[in-house]
Amino acid sequence: MTAAYAFAILGPERDRKAFSCGVAALDRYFPEQVIQDVRRRATACYVVLDTAAGRVAGYYTLAASGVPLCEMPGALARKLPRYPVVPVARLGRLAVDTAYRGRQLGGAMLWDAAARAARSGLGVFALVVDAKDDPAKAFYVHHGFATFGSAPRQLILSLANVPGER
Ligand SMILES: CC(C)(COP(=O)(O)OP(=O)(O)OC[C@H]1O[C@@H](n2cnc3c(N)ncnc32)[C@H](O)[C@@H]1OP(=O)(O)O)[C@@H](O)C(=O)NCCC(=O)NCCS
Repeated sequence: MTAAYAFAILGPERDRKAFSCGVAALDRYFPEQVIQDVRRRATACYVVLDTAAGRVAGYYTLAASGVPLCEMPGALARKLPRYPVVPVARLGRLAVDTAYRGRQLGGAMLWDAAARAARSGLGVFALVVDAKDDPAKAFYVHHGFATFGSAPRQLILSLANVPGER
């Protein structure tokens, strides 16, 4: 990623209408729904900005969540307390505008999300995501996520090695 991009928390001043990643649900959510969800504290939203053009090149949403311990892969479960539900951060949505594809922004947003979750001050031990289709799943696997649980496209990334507050 070059210095022309910067991460920021989404504010109402950003132009969200121009954003287009080609996935209708993600393109609708960003201009129509995300600010309301942020106001209700149902999610947080972060953007990667093309600082020269003043455009949103990508966005992702992040929220606290929980997953049943019995769904955890064995290696992770062994390191966790025997709570029925264990705390994670959930990547709800992640998208890069088609004009900015293939510039490592998707990967950079994943690591930004992992770093934010790790230093959030909340006790979350992993980042989880429900990939919407098989290409999206391949993207997460490429970046080190592993499938888990009974749903076919549920993925997890341990935050054990991500620097944070502890
Ligand atoms: C998936 C998406 C976020 C990728 O964004 P991007 O910025 O073009 O991806 P990057 O440039 O960061 O790709 C980084 C790496 O991931 C790889 N990659 C990208 N998409 C991939 C895919 N679908 N499967 C496997 N690997 C993939 C790239 O080859 C690249 O590999 P490298 O680092 O070894 O060179 C983007 O295509 C997108 O917004 N798609 C539509 C929305 C979507 O599917 N979101 C997923 C959330 S459910």
